[in-house]
Amino acid sequence: MPTSTGTNANPLVEENRKLKEQLALLNRERIEYLQNVSHQLVAPLNAIKWHIENLTHGRVSIERGKKVLRSVYSQATVAVHLAKNFALMSNLEADHTLIALREPLQPVNLCQLLVNLADDFQPQGWDKEVDISVENQPLNTAPAVLVIKPLISQVFSNIIENAVKYSAPRSEITVVGSYDSVQDTVTVHVQNDGIRLKTEEVDRVFERGYRSQEAKSAYPAGTGFGLYIAKRIVAIHEGKISCAVEPKGSVVFSVTLPVKALEGKTRQREPKDRAAGR
Ligand SMILES: Nc1ncnc2c1ncn2[C@@H]1O[C@H](COP(=O)(O)OP(=O)(O)OP(=O)(O)O)[C@@H](O)[C@H]1O
Ligand SMILES: [Mg+2]
Repeated sequence: MPTSTGTNANPLVEENRKLKEQLALLNRERIEYLQNVSHQLVAPLNAIKWHIENLTHGRVSIERGKKVLRSVYSQATVAVHLAKNFALMSNLEADHTLIALREPLQPVNLCQLLVNLADDFQPQGWDKEVDISVENQPLNTAPAVLVIKPLISQVFSNIIENAVKYSAPRSEITVVGSYDSVQDTVTVHVQNDGIRLKTEEVDRVFERGYRSQEAKSAYPAGTGFGLYIAKRIVAIHEGKISCAVEPKGSVVFSVTLPVKALEGKTRQREPKDRAAGR
């Protein structure tokens, strides 16, 4: 009769112990993630409170008022961005295919989407004089891509937010894109100069929870889930996402999406989904 100790240990007992360990690790990761996100959410919400308090107390010139409102908008963008990632994390852990998602596909003009995101994140670049420029040509001649808009928007939101956060002062973020008529795909590149990334890290950045040492010391707050979420969403859309470091050290994130390969691939919304507001 095998015992639970020594070389004849029951394989089932051993398997059970390993599973318990994995579960405990997953639980620890979940708790850390929750603590991290809630900690990060408090900062922009407090800033919004503080700005509003500033506006309501004492006399504020119109010029100053406008500036404060712009800061409120910028902090609200950060809070919404964090909250969306948080909501997506739980959905993506459960759903693995486009069919499983209830959101409808819709044609999206990527040029317009990127211009809007750049406008949203630009205020965060002001402090370090970082400019985001979206090159219209040739992206604005590309056909609309058939995607789940809020998800694809979050992919670029995560990449652009990183670019602003990790950029060096007085540098420029460039967003360019083009259409490949042979493959029927649109590719977007986001390039920035800032904290360094080693070539051996370019694939690791998409791992769940991975953060480079430099990112950790420059910006201790961060979950390391943004690019993992982006990769999952791009895979669901049958696209590709990659990261590269250029010879001079610029970091470039590239996303390629099929234009209409996904037609008919998502589940139609059922009346009960609509009634439930899903
Ligand atoms: N533009 C960039 N330049 C240099 N390194 C980057 C850039 N974008 C991402 N990284 C590296 O990839 C890591 C993972 O990025 P990811 O967005 O997943 O997490 P995060 O930014 O650290 O945290 P969070 O997105 O939760 O705020 C970063 O910690 C950083 O090391
Ligand atoms: Mg990030």
